[in-house]
Amino acid sequence: MPTRSPSRRFLAQGWLVVRVYAGYKWLQVRSRLGRDTTAAFERQHRRSADAIYRLAVRLEGLPIKVCQFIGSRADVLPDAYVEVLSKLQDRVPPRPIEDLEPMVRGELGRPIEEIFAEFDRKPIASASLAQVHRARLHDGREVAVKIQYPEIAEVVRTDLANFRFFVRALALLERNFDFSVFIREVEKYVPLELDFLHEAKNSERMRACLAARTDVMVPAVVPEIGARRVLVTEFAPGVRVTDIEGLRAAGADPEEIARLLIDLFSEMILVHGFFHADPHPGNILVQPGGRLVLLDFGLAKDFDSSFRTGIANLVVAIMSNDKTAIGKAFRDLGFRTRKEGDESLALLGEAFLGWALRNQRSYADAEMLEHFNAALPDVMKKNPLVEIPSDILAVGRVSGILSGIGKQLGTHVDIGAALLPYLAAPPTKPTPPPAASASEA
Ligand SMILES: Nc1ncnc2c1ncn2[C@@H]1O[C@H](COP(=O)(O)OP(=O)(O)O)[C@@H](O)[C@H]1O
Ligand SMILES: [Mg+2]
Repeated sequence: MPTRSPSRRFLAQGWLVVRVYAGYKWLQVRSRLGRDTTAAFERQHRRSADAIYRLAVRLEGLPIKVCQFIGSRADVLPDAYVEVLSKLQDRVPPRPIEDLEPMVRGELGRPIEEIFAEFDRKPIASASLAQVHRARLHDGREVAVKIQYPEIAEVVRTDLANFRFFVRALALLERNFDFSVFIREVEKYVPLELDFLHEAKNSERMRACLAARTDVMVPAVVPEIGARRVLVTEFAPGVRVTDIEGLRAAGADPEEIARLLIDLFSEMILVHGFFHADPHPGNILVQPGGRLVLLDFGLAKDFDSSFRTGIANLVVAIMSNDKTAIGKAFRDLGFRTRKEGDESLALLGEAFLGWALRNQRSYADAEMLEHFNAALPDVMKKNPLVEIPSDILAVGRVSGILSGIGKQLGTHVDIGAALLPYLAAPPTKPTPPPAASASEA
């Protein structure tokens, strides 16, 4: 059981940050002195990743969510981090079901043996907030039963308070930038993830949005058995999207999967304005023949139609490499810079998509990082970004995760070609409610 004490959690996290940071600083000093530190850096990556893993497993809650994100960034992070931390996307050490049974009984009003014809007491997966068991209903349907860890809500509340403190401290040091966007975004969405009735609604809505597609499925919710902390969905077998050998064995082509992912997220964001905002590899499975399974709609994001059109306009402006149009599109979305002038916004557009388009890359890589690390500080100093709209954070996060998956799939997709069908005729109608069909696309 994770420690709930706010100060213990805070200190443990702070101490880890200090240790990891100091380890890297020390190596930097040694390499400046002319020592060969290549092997030492490798060891430091591994040591740090292991330490972060151990702490996340001990603390659970938000630290696991952070690690799931880090573990999906194979495009920009050393292999050791990806190898070690990606385990937390679906293989967090599970709890004995006995510890969860009383809660399940309370939530569903009946004991597990009564509700299900069969119930596998050994979980098939476990992640940040819950673990998942395979079961069979009395009518024969195979299902996945997602059970929330009983004390996780309290743990997450504590982490949010610590996070708020941390961001406020950062805001004191960096007075130029409005950090409250991060707090607003995290405080709005994390509590929603703890409500599985909300997740069930999101899943059903996305199922309706994607109903016309045969290359993607969202498991159906079993509405008659469900509560805030227990979610039952149709069981959908598949291999993790980054399991290259598994993909090949299932007859799926990694290149095609990478293209399909970009296509799918373009449709969700640009057509429906409603998208899966946490597509780390634990939440995407691939079935024989290459059909995608999208899981875990705890974090799904909803754009109003003007914001969605704004994103489409931005993409078009970046594609046409028109600095003034890029600046305008960013400002229309709610971005603000200290002074007039489009230089910093144009560079941001280049980092977000332009560079990838013009260099035929479909994910970030070391060369790209180097390029922007060299250019960004100067440009931002001249005319800093002082405000970014909180809604855009989810798009940044999603494109980061997709970039990481793209790297792991090891293929290059023509992003321009993938985006084009979704830009030709920007939609004007809002997303249908769950019951309606998605044919407006
Ligand atoms: N309907 C399902 N069919 C098959 N496997 C599932 C299903 N739902 C969840 N899983 C497995 O359980 C894991 C955790 O479920 P998920 O909904 O992602 O929980 P969390 O919110 O804790 O990340 C997934 O990574 C997947 O491996
Ligand atoms: Mg998940």
